[in-house]
Amino acid sequence: MATAQTEVEAQKKAAADRALELVRPGTVVGLGSGSTARYFIAGLAERVRAGLEVRAVATSAESRRLAEEGQIPTTERIDGSLDLAVDGADEIDPTINCLKGRGGALLREKIVAVASRRFVLIADESKLVGRLGRGPVPIEVLPFLWEATSRSIESLGGRPQLRTTAGQPFRTDNGNLILDTTFGTVDAQLGVAIHAIPGVLEHGLFFRVARAAIVGSATGLRILGELA
Ligand code: A5P
Repeated sequence: MATAQTEVEAQKKAAADRALELVRPGTVVGLGSGSTARYFIAGLAERVRAGLEVRAVATSAESRRLAEEGQIPTTERIDGSLDLAVDGADEIDPTINCLKGRGGALLREKIVAVASRRFVLIADESKLVGRLGRGPVPIEVLPFLWEATSRSIESLGGRPQLRTTAGQPFRTDNGNLILDTTFGTVDAQLGVAIHAIPGVLEHGLFFRVARAAIVGSATGLRILGELA
């Protein structure tokens, strides 16, 4: 068991190390959230300490804390696009659509991903799926009348479950709630329909957003899509 876990961590780190090669000096880089993005942030901090000049936009309070601890200059104001954003994922399909948000940072993650010229996923091979929807779709909703928002999601065929932590509703960095929602079929149209519900701020389906995925595997790195 411990060995299997070590192998997974090695795969995450190998993917993050490859993504570090994509960072261009003088640019603004998007920092994802979660255990895989953590390896990328740690590697970027090492490069910054060695003289690399970059600024970063963090997608969560935790990633921002890690960046600042690593002396990576952070910003929340940019002119134009970010050059690159690197983030983990919960599920990645063969055409690099992905599902994100089990860590609760999906709203800022999607803003950063869409604002980036190159959005690159990093993951271990357990994240590869034939089709998105192996697990629930995280949906960030405004706390105001959230039960009504939840019923609207049910009318799309979803089974929403309020995310809790230590018996209390989980709050995102934005002060909102997460409804982890199981659907029969997950596709791009579903993403559009979820977005149309008042009270929904964002969902964890990223269709046609990622340009590439770097995936660690037992036999080496796999690259899906184009890294350039
Ligand atoms: C955070 O909200 C998520 O989107 C993470 O990026 C995703 O859950 C992947 O996390 P791990 O790298 O920890 O698996």
